[in-house]
Amino acid sequence: MAKIVILTGAGISAESGIRTFRASDGLWEEHRIEDVATPEGFARDPQLVHRFYNARRAAASAALPNAAHQALAALEADPRHEVLLVTQNVDDLHARAGSQNLRHMHGSLFGALCAICDTRWPAPDTMHPTDRCPACNATATRPDIVWFGEMPHHMEEIWTALRGADLFVSIGTSGNVYPAAGFVQDAGRAGVETLELNLAPSTGSFDFDRARHGLATQLVPEWVKEICP
Ligand code: APR
Repeated sequence: MAKIVILTGAGISAESGIRTFRASDGLWEEHRIEDVATPEGFARDPQLVHRFYNARRAAASAALPNAAHQALAALEADPRHEVLLVTQNVDDLHARAGSQNLRHMHGSLFGALCAICDTRWPAPDTMHPTDRCPACNATATRPDIVWFGEMPHHMEEIWTALRGADLFVSIGTSGNVYPAAGFVQDAGRAGVETLELNLAPSTGSFDFDRARHGLATQLVPEWVKEICP
């Protein structure tokens, strides 16, 4: 039984038609992070932030899981491996592909959160600054997304799993945002084998024991077939 920790980023959903962040046509080319992905930006203009995430929620709902998502779900179903799938993505394509041992460290477009009482509930298709919290009735509802400057979810569990893994695989991420960008070093320090599957060498590519570059829908199913003969 091999223990495998997998980290995914926007690149695994790119071939499902969901935009990445730092490509030439990426989301951060059109929006300033400080306006739509920080608590301060939300306080300044909640309408702008809700419009940004309403559009991304609609795009995610219209998208379908691709062969890379499906291959990871098949890997998890193989009794020879114990897989923890950690995603930076806020779309729901891993869950829709069938992955279950899944942690959304940056939250989810399909969750809503009350900025006053921390209550969480399933997000409606579109959210507005006038929406009321079902628990405390305050008009302070936000998407349940981890913004810059906020602590990602499940970090203790993820770091423990990284240290105890046989293999760490990073798929479709540029390695620009910590703590996820540091997982390869955390794993390496613990003597865990590391593999990068990405369209192009990421910022931390030189930290990986092995790296393969190409489209996720080709690289991921090929890799899964190799380890699940
Ligand atoms: N197949 C494989 N990799 C791909 C593909 C593809 N079809 N298309 C793009 N990529 C790779 C790119 O080469 C890039 O390295 O996916 C990576 C996407 O990088 P980013 O756009 O920076 O997205 P990500 O790494 O997920 O960003 C991390 O930053 O903005 C925050 O919270 C946001 O979770 C996000 C975090």
